[in-house]
Amino acid sequence: MKKFRTKNNHIGLVIRGITYIDGYLIVNKSYSLPQNYGNKLSRKLVKAFKKMQNAALKEEIKIKILSGFRSYDRQKEIYNKYLEEDSKNVDNYSARPGHSEHQSGLAIDINNASDTFIDSKEAKWLDKNAYKYGFILRYPKNKNNITGYKFEPWHYRYVGKKLAKKLYNNGSWLTMEEYFGIDSKYLKNKQNII
Ligand code: DAL
Ligand code: ZN
Repeated sequence: MKKFRTKNNHIGLVIRGITYIDGYLIVNKSYSLPQNYGNKLSRKLVKAFKKMQNAALKEEIKIKILSGFRSYDRQKEIYNKYLEEDSKNVDNYSARPGHSEHQSGLAIDINNASDTFIDSKEAKWLDKNAYKYGFILRYPKNKNNITGYKFEPWHYRYVGKKLAKKLYNNGSWLTMEEYFGIDSKYLKNKQNII
């Protein structure tokens, strides 16, 4: 077990290759998951999603999980496909294997993972309400230099209500990177550089 302090004095722990900060599992370009980690979506996430889905439906908003848990190998297939087609930009929107939050079982893509989702009523509803159910918009607009990824209005991370409310920040989303004081960058000379 390795213990460290972040730039803002939050406590990080690395346990069996998994990094937790203040107890929250962290996956981004700087912090990866072991290859064999994970097998399904978190039960807490699924429960919270069902509540959110029912609340949304009462306002005639239909949401569904488009992509949930993804294994290391599945992410590798996805990343490599984009890498072949679009090697210049791939790292702005697809995580390298071991670096996807989907492998943690704590992240979901909702309804439609494309830029056409941005202006939909479902995306707007989620942006305003998801935090009440413990979800955060993980890759907000204009934060690509901080999160490492362009705006993804469909990708939500489950963190629980307490942290979600803090990061919602009255409607101007804070990222996990800003809040905890951590980077999201692939390191040179490490195996995550291809
Ligand atoms: N699209 C997100 C960054 C992922 O590949 O996990
Ligand atoms: Zn996603």
